[in-house]
Amino acid sequence: MKQNTQTAVIVIPTYNEAGNIGKMIDYLNETTFPYIEKKNEGLTADWVMKILVVDANSPDGTGKIVQEKSKKYSNTYLLTETTKDGLGAAYFKGFKYAMKELAADFVFEFDADFQHPPETLPSMLKAMEDGYDYVIGSRKIKGGEEPEGRDFMRMLMTEAGGFVARFILFFPFKHFWDVTDPTTGLKVTRVKGFIDQMSFDFDRLYSRKFGYKVQLLLETLNMGAKFKEVPLKFKNRSVGESKFESDTTTEILLSCFKSRWFDPFIQKFLKFGIVGGFGFVVNTLGAKIFKNIFITPESNLSLLNGLCNAAAAELAIISNFIWNNLWTFSKEKIDPSKLLPKFLTFNLSSVITGIIIPSTVIAILTSLFGDQLFLYQIIAIFGLTIPLNWFVYNKIIWKK
Ligand code: GDD
Ligand code: MN
Repeated sequence: MKQNTQTAVIVIPTYNEAGNIGKMIDYLNETTFPYIEKKNEGLTADWVMKILVVDANSPDGTGKIVQEKSKKYSNTYLLTETTKDGLGAAYFKGFKYAMKELAADFVFEFDADFQHPPETLPSMLKAMEDGYDYVIGSRKIKGGEEPEGRDFMRMLMTEAGGFVARFILFFPFKHFWDVTDPTTGLKVTRVKGFIDQMSFDFDRLYSRKFGYKVQLLLETLNMGAKFKEVPLKFKNRSVGESKFESDTTTEILLSCFKSRWFDPFIQKFLKFGIVGGFGFVVNTLGAKIFKNIFITPESNLSLLNGLCNAAAAELAIISNFIWNNLWTFSKEKIDPSKLLPKFLTFNLSSVITGIIIPSTVIAILTSLFGDQLFLYQIIAIFGLTIPLNWFVYNKIIWKK
């Protein structure tokens, strides 16, 4: 029979968790891991479970406790940071270590304070066995819950903050609807294809603190991770204090904004917009300039306007083609041998999406709703030309 051994590393960052961490390590090793080993809940793989505590050199002796425990349990490791460096930085260090030193196939993000019930772990492993790449614990789906007796402000922050975070990160795309708990702290990620493809350079973190979460969320989903939420029954902290600070919410939202802004897709769309805007300027200004050059007292004005606009439109098309090729789609740059046919296709599609389709629609709208040319032009540009061009550029001209 084929042996199916998988290694999962539970990464637990700690800062002053002396009251929790010993109990947590004991609980995982004595209760949770044996339960997993017995292949409960339909598990089929032989799971090698490891614990990696990343301690921020806690003054309360958290590290000492972990060190003691690691003598007792050979699967329990301690990574000590020189100083409290933020939750995101701690996870970056932990992931790198888990991958390089502990041969992790999967890495968990897990809190030390029993707010994440260890009972959730088997169902997450099961999902990984089923082929998911990224599984997160959600308080918002059926079976998930918030702890009782939360203070009103923190609850409001979670609810409003969670919604705003989803909105900034994903709207209007698919994950806006299916990620219900974007700031959750309980996650597991497949190493192969995901963690091993990421850079763990701290400088790329928009936030070294709690905000790292939303950045990794968007990145992992963008990498095409097969994703699932499992219910998380979020508990009250057993002992000790939360490290959530007054600026944490702002910091998370800022991180959402930056993650979205610098998202490759959004960057591409912004560049596409800028190039298109520039093309519009070339078109209008170009026609004026041509007209000034060629106009004579004998000119046939309607013919001149038509010709000048056609020439300027062609210039705009050329400009759009060049800048999109060099800048917007620099990663999909067209092979020189294919430049001419692609350019001709681009020209043709520009005429179709920029003139034929919108003009037809404007004519129809006018016959249906009366003469409102400017309004119809706006509708045609934003509702037809821009989305159609975006589609054609991505799916035909600069198709990978
Ligand atoms: N090494 C290290 N460095 N560990 C840290 C740091 C740090 O700077 N800051 C916090 N931790 C550890 C804590 O000791 C704890 O084990 C875990 O990270 C989570 O910190 P908590 O202070 O317990 O966070 P929380 O309970 O307020 O927030 C929880 O819920 C949030 C969603 O509302 C966490 O699960 C968050 O991840 C989650 O976003
Ligand atoms: Mn906590």
